[in-house]
Amino acid sequence: MSRGTDPASRVEALLAAMSLAEKIGQLTMVRPEFAAGSADTITDSQKAGIRAGQIGSMLDIWGAGPTRAAQTVAVNESQAKIPLLFCYDVLHGYETVFPVPLGEAAAFDPDLWERTARAAAEEAAAGGVALTFAPMLDVARDPRWGRIVESFGEDAWLGRRFAEAKVRGFQGESPADAGAVAATAKHLGAYGAVTAGREYASVDVSERALHEVHLPPFRAAVEAGAAAIMPAFNDLNGVPMTGNAEVLRGIVRARWAFDGVMISDFGAVGELMVHGVAGDLAEAAALALGAGVDIDMASDAYPKGLPEALARGLVTEAQIDEAVRRVLVLKERLGLLDAPFARGGAALSEEKRQAHRALAREAACRSMVLLRDRDGLLPLQGEARHLAIIGPLADAGAEMLGPWSAAGKADDTVGYLAGLRAALPGWTISHSEGARREGGTAALLDDALDLVRAADLTLLCIGETPELCGEAGSRAEPGLPDWQRPLTEAVLGAGKPVIVALTCGRPLIAPWLFEQAGTVLAAWFPGSEAGNALADVLTGRLSPSGKLPVSWPRAVGQIPIFFGQSATGRPADPAERLTSRYLDVASAPLFPFGHGLSYARFEYRDLRVTPAVARPGDGITVEVDIANSGAREGRETAFLFIRDPVASVARPVLELRGAAGITLAPGEAGSLRFSLKPDDLAFSTGEGTSRLEPGRFEILAGPSADRASLLQASIELRMS
Ligand code: GLC
Repeated sequence: MSRGTDPASRVEALLAAMSLAEKIGQLTMVRPEFAAGSADTITDSQKAGIRAGQIGSMLDIWGAGPTRAAQTVAVNESQAKIPLLFCYDVLHGYETVFPVPLGEAAAFDPDLWERTARAAAEEAAAGGVALTFAPMLDVARDPRWGRIVESFGEDAWLGRRFAEAKVRGFQGESPADAGAVAATAKHLGAYGAVTAGREYASVDVSERALHEVHLPPFRAAVEAGAAAIMPAFNDLNGVPMTGNAEVLRGIVRARWAFDGVMISDFGAVGELMVHGVAGDLAEAAALALGAGVDIDMASDAYPKGLPEALARGLVTEAQIDEAVRRVLVLKERLGLLDAPFARGGAALSEEKRQAHRALAREAACRSMVLLRDRDGLLPLQGEARHLAIIGPLADAGAEMLGPWSAAGKADDTVGYLAGLRAALPGWTISHSEGARREGGTAALLDDALDLVRAADLTLLCIGETPELCGEAGSRAEPGLPDWQRPLTEAVLGAGKPVIVALTCGRPLIAPWLFEQAGTVLAAWFPGSEAGNALADVLTGRLSPSGKLPVSWPRAVGQIPIFFGQSATGRPADPAERLTSRYLDVASAPLFPFGHGLSYARFEYRDLRVTPAVARPGDGITVEVDIANSGAREGRETAFLFIRDPVASVARPVLELRGAAGITLAPGEAGSLRFSLKPDDLAFSTGEGTSRLEPGRFEILAGPSADRASLLQASIELRMS
């Protein structure tokens, strides 16, 4: 590969020198086939495939050793000498594991999101990884769907901020930096709206919902420079995303001018046959390539189907060249053509690793949401008291990391018990797991109850384990696992103060639990520093500041539940039967989007909107005063919503347009300022264009999407 020539010419020269088989090889991504008994040496047959130019990228191989070994074969022993692209699911950390995205979203802090992505990129790149299959940008409003854990939650505006921050963090100033990785915006599109929350099920959404809710986070990722996009497994209104040219080419490539690489999801090209839109591998390959999918992840469709598709005239070599060109441009953009061994070249310093651990602790603290503290048990007070730490997740390691924990290790994780012990040296701390999934634990339950009765108060650590969430983690009854209920009810019924710490990847729907538990904290899957972070929050070293990025349902029957719903012609009125409500469950969520308690006490005052009349091109400033009337310092996230009460279509009762944090000492007051443009008052039409209509708009600010908690003002928009 001649250095020094301009990138485009270099890519063209490479392309011109490649055989058809080598071109198809660049479009082929495979998993490593490790030699028997080895966890890091690929088989001779796979080395032969690399040497023959049949493989362009690999997933699920990481670490400097294994990646260097495979890269050496590609760079030194193949004809074209094109480096491999090593890809991995680094969603929320690599070796240092941060809170799962749903938890990290609760911090409502793009700067934090960017910093954790940056740290993850540095560690992954040191492990030879050049592309991550992240951020996951699917709007998720259905807690039955296991992948809600990978999401930023229910709101498209929040998703756009999350997308921008993560792409910046992963890719840094230049994706060619040895500490940067290419970001992949996944899984486009509307995957979070699978039928009945059932994994991989069909998605049927309106054009308006597609353009107003599901696509904006992906567009934001493209605008932030995301290097890659991964279409979703699902079909969208009958057309499988992997073969959906109307969306992938018509919208993403044509309208958004995305010229990056599209990577299918695992096996998804071949699955076009199972969807029933391709009769054989050649047709499947042709459909995907025609839709703009450049790399076939692990389905064989491209290596086996494309030559036949070409021979049958289903594709042209020009189409193949177009895809190969994008892959080569990506490799060039990542610096691989010049320095194929730069990633994986040097281990991170101990100082950097310690900084990442501190960041993981900060992120985990900021992700935890105090849902309820009816009895004022928190923060833990006093010098030497007796705390019983009970539950199957009290002293867990791997369970703290959640799904997609990459290279994270259980024995490198601080569990709750260890974290609390370290934070409360003068306290007596007793521990029992209290219950085991396999059952037969009556004695364990008795042991736990003895400790509860002997202690001043109990920390009950219950919830989900990672395999109940993430991909293929759909649950029709997304509550606390049944095997934990006897222990939970026994402990809550023992007549002593109990703090419940929920480890979970979704809002758990457990009415019985919330009827009995007075103090509940959602810890999500907090990551490597779980125990230290929980201790920081429970002891008050840091006031809890996380707020829910999803509405927390009372019942499964409410799903999908989210704050941005339309008013309907008969808004819910508990006193009126003929209104939009249920007979058996209140319409409102158990906890609204944005809910989260603090040890401080925040009061919102004096919402100001200027100007009173705005025209296109004007700036709109919204200010709100906030005071801390509590006795402890705290960080508050304030939300800015709009509502268009009269428009050409029924608009949601609330639309999120801002979230900002402020830290206030006891007695301190401050102001938050939001800047809006008239375009922020627009809405998407079904064709994906935005529409701005004159009239009066409500501007609301406050602590959550609970309308009763919001201050309200208005502004008039005139078009001239
Ligand atoms: C999985 C997931 C996707 C992931 C890919 C590679 O099936 O759907 O999110 O990036 O395969 O692991």
